[in-house]
Amino acid sequence: MQVVIFDHSEQVAQHAAQWISDLITNKTTPVLGLATGSTPISLYNMLVDMHQTQALSFADVTTFNLDEYHNIAPDNPQSYCRFMHDNLFSLVDIDPANTHLPTCSANQNPRQQGLKYEAAIEAAGGIDLQILGIGANGHIGFNEPSSSLASKTRIKTLTEQTIQDNSRLFKSDEHQPDSAMTMGIGTIMASRYVLLMATGEHKAAAVNAMITGPLSATCPASALQMHENAIVVLDKAAASKLTNQSYYRWADRQNAKLNAQYGFYHNY
Ligand code: PGA
Repeated sequence: MQVVIFDHSEQVAQHAAQWISDLITNKTTPVLGLATGSTPISLYNMLVDMHQTQALSFADVTTFNLDEYHNIAPDNPQSYCRFMHDNLFSLVDIDPANTHLPTCSANQNPRQQGLKYEAAIEAAGGIDLQILGIGANGHIGFNEPSSSLASKTRIKTLTEQTIQDNSRLFKSDEHQPDSAMTMGIGTIMASRYVLLMATGEHKAAAVNAMITGPLSATCPASALQMHENAIVVLDKAAASKLTNQSYYRWADRQNAKLNAQYGFYHNY
């Protein structure tokens, strides 16, 4: 696991934007895994800016989002379809036909929808780079604590804490879903690279459990300890409970030197 710590949250977004830009300029048919939530908003703002000012093109990019609420209309302002449309897809030159979310309406079978999503990822050649956030309870996607570490895309019942954490986004009279379709931890682990972004003090305990805790379904993000190419990008508030910070900062400087000398190793 490569742990990169920055002083400011904007640098976290910049670092992630650089990874995405490197992938989509170096691979002819890049496949990106995307996340929603507060954390990646500044990343999407930067990508839109790079599209407008540096001609970064998404014309050949295929995307798969991590999750979507169960039985929510795509144009519902709370849906992740709408979030992606408003924050990225409508603002860059991506082909909407190449964008995917694990949707499941009331008259669809969530079991079949999960299998179809897995098949679509496989047909696209697998995910090159999966962007992740982390929940205060250690979830990735909507893989709540106790999720199977080998799980695939499926319907999950949300925990009280996640419903509570996300309630800030819903008006008091608005229906808040209590279940969602999500890529599984096994789906995420199959990505060639994963890049997890975390900012803010409220994520510090989950980040510490992910990096230094035992590999356990109690902290689903701890599964990334087993990923060959996991990059965790933190601001100093999210890193504040890590005891080894000076080592991570030093190792990062050493990595920069190795990359300058030998080139960057991309296994896309
Ligand atoms: P946030 O959510 O970016 O809104 O904090 C992250 C997550 O729950 O995965």
